[in-house]
Amino acid sequence: MADADIGLIGLGTMGSALALNIAENGFKVAVWNRTTARTRAFADEAGDLAPRVVPTDGLDALVAALKPPRAIILMVPAGDPVDAQIEALDPYLDPDDLIIDAGNANFRDTMRRMEVMERPFLGVGVSGGEDGARHGPAIMGGGNKAHWDRVEPILTAIAAKFEEAPCAALMGENGAGHFVKAVHNGIEYADMQLIAETYGLMRDGLGMGAVDIGGRFTDWNEGRLSSYLIEISGIVASTTDAATNGPLLDVIVDAAGQKGTGRWTAIEAQHLGTPIPVIEAAVAARNMSAQRSLRADLADRFGSEKREIDLSPETLEAALTCGKVLCYTQGFDMLRAAAEAFEWSLEPEAIARNWRAGCIIRSAMLDDMAEAFEKAPGTTLMAAPYFADLLADTIDALRAVVVAASAAGLPVPAMAAALSYFDTMRLARGTANMIQGQRDYFGLHGFERMDNGKTDQHGPWAED
Ligand code: 6PG
Repeated sequence: MADADIGLIGLGTMGSALALNIAENGFKVAVWNRTTARTRAFADEAGDLAPRVVPTDGLDALVAALKPPRAIILMVPAGDPVDAQIEALDPYLDPDDLIIDAGNANFRDTMRRMEVMERPFLGVGVSGGEDGARHGPAIMGGGNKAHWDRVEPILTAIAAKFEEAPCAALMGENGAGHFVKAVHNGIEYADMQLIAETYGLMRDGLGMGAVDIGGRFTDWNEGRLSSYLIEISGIVASTTDAATNGPLLDVIVDAAGQKGTGRWTAIEAQHLGTPIPVIEAAVAARNMSAQRSLRADLADRFGSEKREIDLSPETLEAALTCGKVLCYTQGFDMLRAAAEAFEWSLEPEAIARNWRAGCIIRSAMLDDMAEAFEKAPGTTLMAAPYFADLLADTIDALRAVVVAASAAGLPVPAMAAALSYFDTMRLARGTANMIQGQRDYFGLHGFERMDNGKTDQHGPWAED
């Protein structure tokens, strides 16, 4: 019977959680997985939700179970598997049936698919991990508004709510949803790195144990840094390892994994020519963390003894706050640059609102950001009155932390990048005049003069 409201392909961790979320919100969901055993197991485990879950054992059966015009969510690994799945599914569908890729796709793949596909297609970023997918993720849509409107009631019902407002919205045209999700992940990397650096300062510079560090994050979670990532950092640091009876954090290998979305953000920032040094530092830090054996060799050669630092908890908290504001400034500026380059109608305030709940970077500060963008449209975040004041109040702390860390030999790449960004961007007369002089010297590239505004000028060396 064709009475299911929506279909879902791919019953991995995220797909299963999303399917249950859909069923829990009163919609009938037909599901299919490459392995029938997984589909059966999923249906068996659906419990009270089973009446609204329709397991199917073939793509034809999946399509037959859906109310036309159909909508099918793909929750398969990003890249080639998405293309393969679309190709396999396509022959069973009617021309107006809608496919929704809700995986972590590269937005360029989403743009390509929309270009070549003749059927309705949405590229949707979903954030919040397994728990978010199950109980309310943030959902960043990309594509045609009429196509979005067809599934909007389901997507807003299953999304996280911030004071009753659903964190699900159409961000913009074609690849915009997956692009916004990639920038979300770039910011996620930077937020995590800034926290990890602060942890390192407390561990190696202040000699604090993991449990005390966890307590500090937990305290900070009560204030302006209140966020999911600070909250879970407190929990992670305070957790005891059953095998050693010591802090679990102390037995976790210091090499971070990555699936690629943060890297894509750094790559796209270069294409757009938009500066995101805090995010780039975070991606580079993950790459450096992975070079464990090289780090061990270099520690033998150069030593890695650290000196103590003398920084108060208040200074660390303020430095972290400052780094965060500068990181988000860069992320939102990148979104603005992308909107222009790809002709997307991205709205910073709508994106900030979307990220207030459900997603990994959710935080109290995002509500202030949404308000700041509403009050001062088109402004860069660090110049919006509320955040300019916050920066002015916290920049000395960031400087004190970077100076103390550098003097003690403790690495703080993301914090240092944030500080240099601030110092560079508030310098009305920078140093690129030297670069222009050099370029003209060796390549006659020309420069603009300060005194008369004439462009394409050359130094006397041009006459040699
Ligand atoms: C989210 C996350 C998620 C991401 C993981 C792992 O918003 O729910 O961003 O989509 O896949 O956090 O990412 P890395 O493996 O790149 O750290």
